Parts: sequence; C-alpha cells; structure tokens
Amino acid sequence: MGVTADASSLTAVRPEKLEILDVLWANGPDGARLPVRRDDAVERLRASDQPGAAALVQAMPAHGGVLDEDAVDATFLAVHLELARLSEFVHVPQRMAQSLRPVVDRLRDSGEGPVRIVDLGCGIGYDTRILAATGALGDGVEYVGLDFNSLLVDAATRLAALEEIPVTFLVGDALDSSLSMEDPDRTVVVSSGVLHHLGRDNLQPFFAQTANSGVAAFAHFDVNPGLWADVGAWVLHHTRMREPVSRHDGSMSMKRAFTTEDLLTYASAGCGRAYHLRCDKVTNLYPRPEQIVRPVLGLRRDLGGAP
Ligand SMILES: C[S@@+](CC[C@H](N)C(=O)[O-])C[C@H]1O[C@@H](n2cnc3c(N)ncnc32)[C@H](O)[C@@H]1O
Repeated sequence: MGVTADASSLTAVRPEKLEILDVLWANGPDGARLPVRRDDAVERLRASDQPGAAALVQAMPAHGGVLDEDAVDATFLAVHLELARLSEFVHVPQRMAQSLRPVVDRLRDSGEGPVRIVDLGCGIGYDTRILAATGALGDGVEYVGLDFNSLLVDAATRLAALEEIPVTFLVGDALDSSLSMEDPDRTVVVSSGVLHHLGRDNLQPFFAQTANSGVAAFAHFDVNPGLWADVGAWVLHHTRMREPVSRHDGSMSMKRAFTTEDLLTYASAGCGRAYHLRCDKVTNLYPRPEQIVRPVLGLRRDLGGAP
C-alpha cells in the first residue's frame, strides 16, 4: 500500500506563482524543444496574477507571434550565469560538499568502483563543475548533470570542455519515471534550486521515483524560506544581479520554496520506507547567508544509520 502525504500536515498551499524562465521554455513529449508563443507565455503570467513579469515577456521580440529563439537563449544564459555567480557568492558548492562528503566517503569505503554524483536540473552545471574541479568529494567520483533544457546542457558541456573538467551533461527530465540509474548502489542523486520548480503535486512522485531507482542516497538543496531568506534574497538579487528576469525569478524562487516540514512530509511519503531522511530546520532569527540553501537528505536504510 502506498503512503500518501497527509494534507493536514502540509503548509497551506499558496497560489502557484511562476518564474519567467519557466514560461519561456517548452519541450514536446519526445523531449525536443518547442517554439513558445509570446501571447501564451504572457497569458500564463497574467493568469497567475504576475502583471510585472507578463510585461517583461511582452517586451521580448517575437516573429509571427513566436518568441525569438535567440532572444530567449540570451535571456536563459544571462540569468544562469548570474545564478552561478550568486551560487559562488553564497558558497553553494561548498555547502553541497559539506553534506555530501560523509555519504560519498561511506560509499567509497564500502565497495568497488567510482561513486557517481548525478545532478538533476543542473542548468549550466556550475555546482558539478566546481565539485569536480576542486576534488571536494575526494578521488574516484564521477559527475553527471541532467537538465531538460538542451540549451543549458549544451552550455554546460561547452564550459566543462573549455575548463577541461570531466563532467558529463545529458538532456533529460527529472520527473521522467523511466529515468534509470546505471549503478544505483554507487549513485548519489543531488539537485540545487530545483525542488520548487518541480511543483507541489510532483514532489511525492519524485521521491517515490528515487526509491524505485534504488540510488544509495540523495541530497536535494533548495532555498530555506523564512523572513531572512526573503529579505536576504531580495537584497542579494537586487544588488548582485542585473537582469530583470534574474531579479524576478530569484525573488520568486524564495516565495515558491518549500518549508522543511513540507519537504520531510513529501519525502517520507514518497520514499521514507526505504531511506533514512533528514532536513534540518535552519533558524531564521538572524541572517545566515551560508544557510540560504539547505538539503533534504536521504540514505538507503540498508546502508547504515541516518545521514
Ligand atoms: C533554478 S535553476 C538551478 C540550476 C542549477 N542547479 C544551479 O543551481 O545553478 C533550475 C533548473 O532546473 C531545471 N529543471 C526544472 N525542472 C526540471 C525537470 N523536470 N527535469 C530536469 N531539469 C529541470 C531547469 O531547466 C533549470 O536549469
């Protein structure tokens, strides 16, 4: 019998707001990129009561009603480069390494062959490129990044080649239930800033899919909502980012982020039988920029004690 999330224990569902990049990209059922009609993108933002965001998209160039692909690509790349700079500023890869290192060490000591880190929703691959380049997780670790946005995967691949960093980037949907992991016993699935993009309805199935894939562990990092995160994020996005879309989406990601309680509820409903879970509640009484993201961690129960 499946475990379902108990709705009474979840934070009241706020109306789903959108990030602008979410409405500028569409994939067909085969994963191929589809043209996006400007009116459709604008209408989605208006329907979710975001007139300022709708105005930004309305101002983008279009041909025959379809958004100009070069302009869309330039926006995506500019926003993701700014996002990488922000991740650098608040030490996201270091934070990931700190949480992942004990898990990776445990797997390294307990079996043969490389440990594989698979980064779901990798964007331009900043986190895995830094982890691989710095060797922060030690020897014998392979890195794979996956994203459903082929433009970002191409950029990540180019950057890794230029920097001579051995990370493989692939196009794929993190919610695809047929997604399988090559060597699950030696695989740790991670993500950063992605859970809130998946949508509330998809979280429990996403964690259930993790259990089906049988990976050894997971660590999904996302922003920790709360007063200081909201204030701090607004200040960070307005002082360190120039792109209006970055500023909008950065602030919106704080509003969309899940509370620690919600993450634990969805994770335990989706995979709690198979995984020890942990998601620390980070105090918001005073600002802690290094805690702007925190992980929900899972370690397969047969692999030992809680993470
Ligand atoms: C806020 S960005 C974070 C990118 C990167 N992890 C980072 O921290 O810089 C969210 C990323 O998740 C990707 N994404 C969202 N939903 C996805 C899905 N279902 N499958 C794969 N990628 C997804 C988006 O394309 C985007 O690159």
